[in-house]
Amino acid sequence: MRKKIIAGNWKMNMTPSQAVALCAELKDLVKNDDVDVVYCVPAIDIVPVVNALKGTNVKVGAENMYFEEKGAYTGEISAAMLKDAGVEYVIIGHSERRDYFKEDDALLNKKVKKAIEAGLTPILCCGETLEQREMGITMDWIRMQIKSDLQGVAAADVAKLVIAYEPIWAIGTGKTATTAQAEEVCGGIRECIAEIYDKATAEAVRIQYGGSVNAGNAAELFAEKDIDGGLVGGASLKADFGKIVCYNK
Ligand code: PGA
Repeated sequence: MRKKIIAGNWKMNMTPSQAVALCAELKDLVKNDDVDVVYCVPAIDIVPVVNALKGTNVKVGAENMYFEEKGAYTGEISAAMLKDAGVEYVIIGHSERRDYFKEDDALLNKKVKKAIEAGLTPILCCGETLEQREMGITMDWIRMQIKSDLQGVAAADVAKLVIAYEPIWAIGTGKTATTAQAEEVCGGIRECIAEIYDKATAEAVRIQYGGSVNAGNAAELFAEKDIDGGLVGGASLKADFGKIVCYNK
């Protein structure tokens, strides 16, 4: 049985002091031993959030990293820096980074490999635009993303990975994919992993749904057999996140 993983993606929100206050506000609301809980936070919030979460069930993730070991890459943050600061997860290939920062699959493949090498667990994002969905190429597109981003990654590492399916048209729009649409693609991603690797790897990898997850739709989404939790943007910044984490209570 795969353990559910519910991660907040804070995006570019929360100053360090606001971040610490939010950790305190959510502390008692996000206790659920049945699921892994992660806050993916802006780089500058990592150190204060790691400290604020000591002794709680919540793990810390980063929202991005660079693939080089170290050196002259002004403004970037390495996997080793994240690891040393107490980070366990890192979002790689969020659609906002693919779109606004022009991150392509070749770059994301390097980031995935470096994160794994450093002992971080990537939360690898994929997802289609509304146009692609309407053209009927959703699964072709996502299979291409997954295959390119995981090029050369070993089965044992993929088994520990988290993949987040986030239809771009559902992010921050209040328009959630229907449960059937979300399950269809998450199941398709699992089939794709079984094809590239094997059945055991596909059964082990955790696949989240993301895109306007909220306290009202989380339980139904997470009840699906191929949806192993969620990547939550807007709703992770408020008390509602507690209801999402405790969806089964
Ligand atoms: P949202 O964002 O929950 O605000 O739609 C999800 C995400 O971008 O990870």
